Amino acid sequence: MRRQIVAGNWKMNKTYPEALALVNELATDLQNNPVSNVEVIVAPPFPYLAALSDKKGDAIQLSAQNCHQKDSGAFTGEVSATMLASVGCEYVILGHSERRQYFQEDSMLLEQKLKAALAAGLKPIFCCGESLEQREQEIHFDFVAQQLKDGLFHLSNEEFDKVIIAYEPIWAIGTGRTASSEQAQEMHEFIREQVSRAYDAEAALKTPILYGGSCNAQNAKELFACKDVDGGLIGGAALKSADFLTIIRSFQ
Ligand code: G3P
Repeated sequence: MRRQIVAGNWKMNKTYPEALALVNELATDLQNNPVSNVEVIVAPPFPYLAALSDKKGDAIQLSAQNCHQKDSGAFTGEVSATMLASVGCEYVILGHSERRQYFQEDSMLLEQKLKAALAAGLKPIFCCGESLEQREQEIHFDFVAQQLKDGLFHLSNEEFDKVIIAYEPIWAIGTGRTASSEQAQEMHEFIREQVSRAYDAEAALKTPILYGGSCNAQNAKELFACKDVDGGLIGGAALKSADFLTIIRSFQ
């Protein structure tokens, strides 16, 4: 059976006291009612990572939302993968559509970031997904295949083994308009097929593929029931402990 994963991408939300309270609520609940079949990851903003690493408990793993491609040096305002690993981060989200759109991150840069993350011992959560326009033009499969090929499939088999893929259709992010379970399933199946072609059937079978885009406490069960959906990368609904915990417990 593949790993089942629910990851919360907090984006640029929460003050430090709010972040502490949220992690404390999650950790307490997961300690009192453990979930054995789901890996739980939270991705808070950079300044909170070191402290949350001490407070999150064993049931929660920590992710960053980004990292710089260089290891150290004169890059004012940036944070390296090595720094993240040194404060207890295990994952880093790379290729999120917001980074691609607002910070001009392209596949060439993402290739360098992936390499830096892996070299530091971080496991990448690699995001892909089409815009509404691309879906309406029916080029969404081609577009996602290209994103994977350019941004991800340069990794060696050994490196790729560490990767989680997140399919996040841009038109579903923060819009309240989620992909239907049919739309999610067909794209996840397609992504798995691309992995099989780029690597092999075993890699395709093993790689967790998460869905992201207005996934919430109400629709998570239906989405997670899809054969090729191995969990979610959650934005807005990860900011409230009750909603996030419901999503974590949405696997059948
Ligand atoms: O990375 C998570 C994401 O972009 C989805 O956000 O708010 O639609 O769940 P949201």
